[in-house]
Amino acid sequence: MSIPQKTVSPIKIILSESEMPRQWYNLAADFRSPMLPPLGPDGKPVTPEMMSAIFPMNLIEQEMSSDRWIDIPEEVLSILYKWRPSPLHRAVALERLLDTPARIYYKNESVSPAGSHKPNTAIAQAYYNKVAGIKKLTTETGAGQWGSALSFACSLMGLECKVYMVKVSFEQKPFRKMLMQTWGGSCVASPSSTTNAGRAVLAKDPNCPGSLAIAISEAVEEAVSDPTGKTKYALGSVLNHVMLHQTIIGQETKKQLALAGEKKADVVIACAGGGSNLAGLAFPFCKDKIEGAQIDILAVEPSSCPTLTRGPFAYDIGDMSGMTPLLPMYTLGHEFIPDTIHAGGLRYHGMAPLVSKAVADGLIEPRSIGQTECFEAAIKFARSEGIVPAPESSHAVAMAMREAVKAKEEGKEKVIVFGLSGHGMLDLVGYDKFLSGNLQDHEPSPEQLARSLDCIRNFPKP
Ligand SMILES: Cc1ncc(COP(=O)(O)O)c(C=O)c1O
Repeated sequence: MSIPQKTVSPIKIILSESEMPRQWYNLAADFRSPMLPPLGPDGKPVTPEMMSAIFPMNLIEQEMSSDRWIDIPEEVLSILYKWRPSPLHRAVALERLLDTPARIYYKNESVSPAGSHKPNTAIAQAYYNKVAGIKKLTTETGAGQWGSALSFACSLMGLECKVYMVKVSFEQKPFRKMLMQTWGGSCVASPSSTTNAGRAVLAKDPNCPGSLAIAISEAVEEAVSDPTGKTKYALGSVLNHVMLHQTIIGQETKKQLALAGEKKADVVIACAGGGSNLAGLAFPFCKDKIEGAQIDILAVEPSSCPTLTRGPFAYDIGDMSGMTPLLPMYTLGHEFIPDTIHAGGLRYHGMAPLVSKAVADGLIEPRSIGQTECFEAAIKFARSEGIVPAPESSHAVAMAMREAVKAKEEGKEKVIVFGLSGHGMLDLVGYDKFLSGNLQDHEPSPEQLARSLDCIRNFPKP
């Protein structure tokens, strides 16, 4: 006897491994005008040879590529299959809580071994370095998600890994260091006394809480000073090849929305620190937008580090001491030290050149939110959907909730998709502070922003 089946709309949309994208998508191929080049200290475009001090040539080729689609190597795919394709969830409990006509979906990148989207590029970068004969990678990390992702990737590829972790996060999040060590990486607080860049900062301010820009300087310095040439540097965000490696997120999401019976997304939302999870989710939707689709794509940053919403589009260096090229991007000035908010991964002075161009071209709209609204939203999310979001991801959660409330006010049945870039199980100190009423919002004053932009006054203008 057959039992009549009740139709249930899916709340967890899963793809099989064979449905995983086999190519990365490069938005640079579809912009209406070309990207501005990165510049060297002489103001001339950097050459691949100049970049080869810190990156292997195979990644430099991707960095400079204008090909629309780039094949994902089989060895990278075989590792990504460990957790990919990641699920797309329909947030039915949150919809009910907000009493909204909107249908809210979230792409769950917290299912990776390191707990965020970062392994998508860590695996690819470790692979290309291994193929190029490199033995050790150095890097920076904010909240520790990237450092743990790279430690994990290096352990699978047989590389050594050294991580400079922004001091305030190093102190707030000791478990991230332990996780890095578990995967065989080593992790030190930045600014450290072991590099010229770190010592110079400590001489000026012995209590400096650190910044991503300082940690990048230290990691690059260690890579370029290895006399064997077998140490390179890996960056967890900002650069073109990092954006590229994340685009499997949005490609999977589009397939999953179609499986859920959605014709299109109306609003796509992700948090933005250096821009990689946003690029990963949003760039495949930007392609549709360039081809005429109506989609609001929102980049959400903390109001204490308002790069896209309050910074100019300018040439600036990616680190503190000028070891990186000048990049065309929205920036607050490389000397900007944001307040010590708990979303450590969003405390970066600049924004990926690809994301910056997408914003300048009107494909992506920037927004900013204070950390208390984000934690409030994260707690509502945890108490309805169950997952505790990373403080970074909570910015996307808060904006999705604002959009769902707006849809209710407008009486519109919108499809809202947001990126849950990671979980916050190792960020509970931030939750504890919020729950005990000890968390404040910070916004830099116009004077502070003007002062921090002073350091780029003499750089070439885009
Ligand atoms: C969970 C999570 N989301 C977002 C970010 C921000 O980085 P990006 O803007 O490159 O995605 C970070 C950075 O550490 C992170 O750990």
